[in-house]
Amino acid sequence: MTAQDWIRKKRDGGELSPDEIKDFVAAVVEGGVSDAQAAAMLMAMFIRGMNRAETVALTKAMLRSGEVLDLSGVPGCKVDKHSTGGVGDKVSLVLAPLVAAAGVPVPMISGRGLGHTGGTLDKLEAVPGFSVDLAADAFARQVEREGLAIIGQSRAIAPADKILYALRDATATVECLPLICASILSKKLAEGIDALVLDVKFGRGAFMEAVDDARELGQALVDISAGMGVPATALLTDMNDPLGRAVGNALEVVETVDCLEGEGPSDLMEVTMALGVEMLAAAGMGESEEDRRGRLREALDSGRARERFDRFIAAQGGKPEALRDGARGLPHAHTVLPVHAPADAAGYIKDVDARKIGRAAMILGAGRKRDGDTIDPAVGVSDLRKRGEPVGARDVLCHLHINDDHGREEAVRLCRAAFRFVSDKPESRSMVLERLQPVTAL
Ligand code: URA
Repeated sequence: MTAQDWIRKKRDGGELSPDEIKDFVAAVVEGGVSDAQAAAMLMAMFIRGMNRAETVALTKAMLRSGEVLDLSGVPGCKVDKHSTGGVGDKVSLVLAPLVAAAGVPVPMISGRGLGHTGGTLDKLEAVPGFSVDLAADAFARQVEREGLAIIGQSRAIAPADKILYALRDATATVECLPLICASILSKKLAEGIDALVLDVKFGRGAFMEAVDDARELGQALVDISAGMGVPATALLTDMNDPLGRAVGNALEVVETVDCLEGEGPSDLMEVTMALGVEMLAAAGMGESEEDRRGRLREALDSGRARERFDRFIAAQGGKPEALRDGARGLPHAHTVLPVHAPADAAGYIKDVDARKIGRAAMILGAGRKRDGDTIDPAVGVSDLRKRGEPVGARDVLCHLHINDDHGREEAVRLCRAAFRFVSDKPESRSMVLERLQPVTAL
């Protein structure tokens, strides 16, 4: 069959066979189809949808388009966490050393931020000297020695995803559940992990805003992962408000250290602990949820998680001393500008729109509008007041960290508009809505 035949079949609503999908993905990587043909196929997949068998075939083909790391020589059950992304989401930075300090090895391949959401690699690169590029054998050695490593996706990992994602980005075909599943899992399953925990976010700042869409994505991810031999669970977590009080790369590293020193904001710690409990359970560690929580608490309270973070930073070339004395060694913006509540504000903060805060941070230079844009590690938003906190006239709602005045007015406007107020204290709500586990194999 030619590329036109595959495209025509999908365009007309047919089901592609596993071999057709495999051949299509191979042709994408080897240059046997043009960008125009690959993009046409993605649009046909987007519009016609893909059933479970097609999604599994696509995931397998994309996974096998590159290298699959072998961590079988590293003792222990290796567990990773993947988040669908959000605003202020520095959970991986806190969770990985925490879980490693509790005894579960964490090999993590992470991504960069795009649009209003941040990326783990960008945050880590705010630490002077830190490198996200490790060869496969160095990655395995570090996981064995330090219990964790966080690196970027090399060209060798799922190269089909790199090509297809760039085309999806350019052709408005990103928001498609089967394509998202194949994209995420082809990368995660290439890590050589034994189990996977997913943080599927819903709400204003999330990729999937509606809970039902997030649930459908989470269920498909855990089913397909388990069906491909990697047990997985997912938590649906709230991304209506920014997670924690800081958004921006260096600012989020500072907040990570606060969390590891026991001073973390409650929403961020709630999500981190819930995912940590899942990771310990996936590794078969602990008798009960309470026991697992206790182990994580002990790793935090004893300082072992904090110490593990320093060791991990140093192992990847970073300077842990940059994180001491109020993180003096991290990049700082030249202007720190308070954003005030209106003169008639009284009562409580009803909510804070994560998307608006994420966009404000992006406009200041913390994030990318387009893949490949450069970012400024120092800028962003800090000291964010949180839902349910009391507020009075002209109170400071947050601080903007600014290096370039371009966009400053817009960022202030967005931050002001992000806050809503109520007279009665809003009820607190759990950050974790649901836990998903596999229900159908493949
Ligand atoms: N994240 C990914 O890695 N891939 C997608 O398609 C969407 C989000």
